[in-house]
Amino acid sequence: MKKIPALLIFGPPGSGKGTVGVKLAATTKLKHLSTGDIFRGIAPSSESGKLIASYSSAGKLVPDSATAQIFERYIKGLIDTNKLNPDTDTLLLDGIPRTPDQVDLIQSVVDVKYVFVLEIKNDSTIVERLLNRAKIEGRKDDADESIIKNRLIEYRDKTALVLSKYDKNIIHYIDGDKTPDEVFLDTLSAFVSYNKNT
Ligand code: AP5
Ligand code: MG
Repeated sequence: MKKIPALLIFGPPGSGKGTVGVKLAATTKLKHLSTGDIFRGIAPSSESGKLIASYSSAGKLVPDSATAQIFERYIKGLIDTNKLNPDTDTLLLDGIPRTPDQVDLIQSVVDVKYVFVLEIKNDSTIVERLLNRAKIEGRKDDADESIIKNRLIEYRDKTALVLSKYDKNIIHYIDGDKTPDEVFLDTLSAFVSYNKNT
């Protein structure tokens, strides 16, 4: 399979990856792909669905091999149904890679060219955003503060290490504490600069 060029939107739970990802995809040619969304779209009664729920409902990361397998299968499905063209499209990845091993596991499928990191100063901002979203979207992993804390621990212990796998020159930091419009503006502006120079 031909490697698909990709930009990565990175950051802790609730940092706004999905919010800005949807807006960027709506205003550019980037194709937003969130593994959290993909996982939540898998039938809970299926084997993969049961496996995913057993981890995600506790705020834990799904094991790397299963994650990479589902991700690759999903991408192949998009290509086979003409929803993704590896020759012309660029992906906006959200939620993967999420461990240093995942960086290696998905390397044959995607080529990460640029990384936006949404930074949030205080964990209290994250907890507040996610508890609030629980009331609107009813996501199980938002409902309980102890599960949110587990997600933050997973982020610090495993996910944050992903950044050390990429060249510093392709990493761009965005202040995720700003308003959604400002975060969008800053990310779009970083994307435009990136595009100009490639
Ligand atoms: P996933 O769905 O990716 O969850 P997450 O990383 O914890 O991130 P969220 O989706 O909760 O937050 P977000 O950064 O997208 O923020 P959002 O824009 O929604 O993953 C869920 C689970 O799936 C994982 O825990 C794991 O189990 C599993 N999983 C997924 N990928 C995996 C992988 N690769 N490997 C292993 N396991 C994997 O914003 C949050 C809220 O804040 C919203 O209500 C929004 O309206 C609000 N908001 C957004 N921006 C702002 C702003 N600037 N100001 C104020 N409010 C804002
Ligand atoms: Mg999200």
